[in-house]
Amino acid sequence: MPTTANAKRKILVTSALPYANGSIHLGHLLEYIQTDIWVRFQKSRGHDCYYVCADDAHGTAIMLRAEQEGVTPEQLIARVSEEHQADFARFGVAFDNYHSTHSEENRLHSERIYTALRDAGHIATRDIEQMYDPVKGLFLADRFIKGTCPKCKTPDQYGDNCEACSATYTPAELIDPVSAISGATPEVRSSTHYFFKLPDFEAFLKQWIQGGHVQPQIANKLQEWFESGLNEWDISRDAPYFGFEIPDAPGKYFYVWLDAPIGYLASFQNLCDREGIDFDSYWKKDSEAEVYHFIGKDIVYFHALFWPAMLEGAGLRTPTGVHCHGFVTVNGAKMSKSRGTFIKAGTYAEYLNPEYLRYYFAAKLTSGVDDLDLNLEDFTYRVNSDLVGKVVNIASRCAGFVKKLGDGTLSVDCAEPDLVQRFIDAGEAIAEDYDSREFGRGMRRIMELADEANTYIAEKEPWVLAKQEGREQEVLDICSVGINLFRQLMVYLAPVVPKMAEDARAFLNLESLDWQSREAVLKGHTINKFKPLMTRIERDKIDAMIEASKEDLAEEKKLKETPRGPLTDNPIAEEIAFEDFAKVDLRIVRIAKAEYVEGADKLLKLTLDLGGETRTVFSGIRSAYAPEALEGMLTVMVANLAPRKMRFGVSEGMVLAAGNGDGIYLLEPHSGVEPGNRVT
Ligand code: 2FM
Ligand code: ZN
Repeated sequence: MPTTANAKRKILVTSALPYANGSIHLGHLLEYIQTDIWVRFQKSRGHDCYYVCADDAHGTAIMLRAEQEGVTPEQLIARVSEEHQADFARFGVAFDNYHSTHSEENRLHSERIYTALRDAGHIATRDIEQMYDPVKGLFLADRFIKGTCPKCKTPDQYGDNCEACSATYTPAELIDPVSAISGATPEVRSSTHYFFKLPDFEAFLKQWIQGGHVQPQIANKLQEWFESGLNEWDISRDAPYFGFEIPDAPGKYFYVWLDAPIGYLASFQNLCDREGIDFDSYWKKDSEAEVYHFIGKDIVYFHALFWPAMLEGAGLRTPTGVHCHGFVTVNGAKMSKSRGTFIKAGTYAEYLNPEYLRYYFAAKLTSGVDDLDLNLEDFTYRVNSDLVGKVVNIASRCAGFVKKLGDGTLSVDCAEPDLVQRFIDAGEAIAEDYDSREFGRGMRRIMELADEANTYIAEKEPWVLAKQEGREQEVLDICSVGINLFRQLMVYLAPVVPKMAEDARAFLNLESLDWQSREAVLKGHTINKFKPLMTRIERDKIDAMIEASKEDLAEEKKLKETPRGPLTDNPIAEEIAFEDFAKVDLRIVRIAKAEYVEGADKLLKLTLDLGGETRTVFSGIRSAYAPEALEGMLTVMVANLAPRKMRFGVSEGMVLAAGNGDGIYLLEPHSGVEPGNRVT
């Protein structure tokens, strides 16, 4: 892989496409941050590097989720896409394009690739038998079937394996199987499926894998899969399915995993069309451009077998590299919802600076596939000690003297040209670390330089000299060297902490902090007023984030238990007796007061008047209403709901609202009723 700064490279980079039915969490962020750092580094070196991504929008899970929420799949994926993009932006993940697999570009590329594979004889069809839900009218994937384990007889187990005894089996072997969607007893039905003939590509794949396109650990894993034999891959699903219909097969749809990686092409196509980039020069068979996919180790099979085989079969180029990473653990254990360590991007960003996490991940990342532990003690220590204690400290120690003694202008001559030159030269080894994804090694080198810079300043003691008459120039010289060293460090750290680097660039009064720019030593250059570039992590913020993550779990449970879709469409609402309904005390209330809740982006705090009695209720309607629009309005509340303790206070009931995917609407009674009236 070329690494010189001089030869301009054409590079296309992707991260895995997140599913359009869930939030981005810290596990996802490892990958997007790793990729973004690598891309920012390549851009800093002056290469043409594009970073594209998209939401992975198709499949049964998304179709059912939309139905459960009472919205169309298109409405669901539009909402989730916005959430995802907002989360990525907060974490400084700067895609050149973010698209969707449910797009025209993706339909065209999927059809084109499928047709090419079919015409070259790589598609087979045959009938298969599968479980079918006669009530919902759909074929059931294994995870949508539940029943009693045939081995240990534990009830309520999924269709492919038992959580109690770890036995694996087919759904047909389950005792008393039921559809997890409707509760109906599934039937076995036969249907024609389309298969991609992966074994046709065995020789090609074996060679491709030896070509250095995957890490050695991954090549070994793939070798095991070859030994157990490659199977044809089922790429079709029967209607109803949210996806693209297969061109020559009415009622059959591409399986979500067929069009997901093609989404990389679709997103890039969308970018090319907008910016006039030549798509084919990246994707034609003999392209000289480089293409890299960053992925988690759980989806290697798709990216290192199916994907290169599909591309090869369709006459397109294959990836230059598939770069796998491990999983994130927190405090040495798998992320856990009940421990509050299953942390969503949005929850993290409410409490902590995203650049802390970017730095910590960078400091621990290697080019390997080992899991990465976010140890919260170590996280606090590393960030505070390295970024704040070492790097920012250099600028804050020197800036004041430059302001006072040079009126903000650095010395005209550099007092330590060799020292500054060594910092400049160190850039080549650091660049090599970035390019080879050895970010941890790079961060160690950078922090060694920061230690050196601090030692230099500590030994020179400019604060002591500043008290001695006639030594002002010496102090200015020392601090000018300090500022130059700080500038080098910020060039090296910029791919990792772009926001801090941008603030440092403004402070240093420079046009750019790109890699090349570091070679011009700052002499007689005027800098701007110093503002703190990063503050220390406070332990109580971490604790609050963990607590909030536990509440996210409670919210999710509540959402699952209280589906918002219309009852008739709702696959999990059961029929209830009139006596059950009569237990619910519904009352007319007047909204006496409505307020924002600090730290909660979805909630409003409502003070409700029940005709004498007052209740406080926290309601997730902030996106739909400004507080002042609600005051005085009548609505309906559940008055005998058990009080629920939330992070912001106790919620003493619930107001009734309906959602149609575009918004949330509070129910408003017809005129004539008064607060306190019972709703019957
Ligand atoms: O595993 C996942 O989250 C998938 N949505 C990744 C798809 S990556 C690519 F193939 F689209
Ligand atoms: Zn069992």
